[in-house]
Amino acid sequence: MYDLGIIGAGPAGYVAAERAGHKGMKVVIFDKRHLGGVCLNEGCIPTKTMLYSAKLYENALLGEKYGISCTGVSFDFGKIMDRKDKVVKKLVAGVASKMKLVKAEVIMAEAQIEERKPDHIIIKADGNSYPCKNLLIATGSEAAIPPIKGLTKEKAYTNREILQIKELPKSINIIGGGVIGIEFAGFFNSMGVKVNVFEMLDEILPGIDAEMSTLLRNELKKKGVEFFLGAKVEEVKGNTVVISGKEGQKEVSADILLVAVGRKINSEGFGLEKTGVEFTPKGIKIDNHCRTNIPNIYAAGDVTGFSLLAHTAYREAEVAVNNIVGEKDIMRYDAIPGVVYTNPEVSSVGLTEEEAVKQGIKFKKATLPLAFAGRFIAENEGKNGLIKMITGEKYGEILGVHIIGNPSSEIIYGAAMAIEMQMRVKDLQQVVFPHPTVSEIFKEIAFTF
Ligand code: NAI
Repeated sequence: MYDLGIIGAGPAGYVAAERAGHKGMKVVIFDKRHLGGVCLNEGCIPTKTMLYSAKLYENALLGEKYGISCTGVSFDFGKIMDRKDKVVKKLVAGVASKMKLVKAEVIMAEAQIEERKPDHIIIKADGNSYPCKNLLIATGSEAAIPPIKGLTKEKAYTNREILQIKELPKSINIIGGGVIGIEFAGFFNSMGVKVNVFEMLDEILPGIDAEMSTLLRNELKKKGVEFFLGAKVEEVKGNTVVISGKEGQKEVSADILLVAVGRKINSEGFGLEKTGVEFTPKGIKIDNHCRTNIPNIYAAGDVTGFSLLAHTAYREAEVAVNNIVGEKDIMRYDAIPGVVYTNPEVSSVGLTEEEAVKQGIKFKKATLPLAFAGRFIAENEGKNGLIKMITGEKYGEILGVHIIGNPSSEIIYGAAMAIEMQMRVKDLQQVVFPHPTVSEIFKEIAFTF
């Protein structure tokens, strides 16, 4: 009998296996596709590896600005993609060795929930039965294919297929101006590809503070990305899209087409319906202990539909495991950072200005150019950046922080900690930051309140 069975070996699954193994539990983890899930194999890691090559290339082209002569700068797309594969392989091997270390049994096969007994659940995989006292569902999500005329799963590239292309196209049409669409727009634009982004809303990156989204869109526009806002894709003819918008119908052609209009959770085809697990409109319903409504069945990661981020999945997995072993732990969603890894990066945590208004919260806000941090000027010749902070009107508690500029992805956790620890601006004012760093911008903005 296993203490914990885990279906899905992505960030939620493998972290749960690791934590549970450390706690001495006997763990079995199943995956039908790959160790590491979407994040390691076809999401976070490969895209960030490619985006780093793109950033290096862009920086080399800008070398003169820093007194560095770079002549004949070019890139080898094949080598960029080979390196991406190498990085993925290395990290997947890392997960495999972690599983070994904690003696978690890894079954690379499709798992089926066979039966739920009063005190355990039977999982079938590879022709064998695995009785598990507890079950964690960590089956993740996959790209959603919208019901657009002429669009089929076979024809369109999603985040999965686009990572396997062998040659750069001359142009790309991207349906969806969300995080996936915009990160790929940034990558292809840096590599000299003509990029068209079609977003049906009036601004890209829904959910991100609107001021930041607009600033990023303007930056990408300056670099040559063409945005079609308020543009609903009605039909696809090969790689040509037919959009309807304020100016009527229009056809835009390109060499390839990427569909990035959101995700569909993976909750079907593995016997979940037999368990009686309840759903919300977004995904599997869990409480703040990551428990479903069925005793001993937990869920973590994208399949819960809450935040679709690898780091949320990590934390949900930890919470689930802690609660399984009887250590009370609670999942909180109000200080989860989010990053759009474009150049410049956009990083945020907590409430956006729009959310604060919508929720009727009495707040103060401040914005400050990143140029107030000397290190930003030293390393970002001719570039602008901005930080916005939202605080409670009465006590000055930090509610939200939003940054556009590099390397905001590496410092945003500081703001997440401030929110998590319920810090006020006057607490932040007392923190000593290393000088010179871009992170000093937190202290600078705290003094503007
Ligand atoms: P998304 O939900 O973020 O954005 C999809 C966009 O497509 C929306 O803006 C929507 O208005 C638009 N859209 C939908 N149908 C359309 C149509 N017919 N025509 C034009 N526009 C249309 O979804 P996305 O970008 O696919 O990302 C999925 C998830 O993956 C997100 O929840 C995100 O959090 C996660 N992710 C996170 C990353 C990060 O943290 N850096 C990177 C990549 C993905």
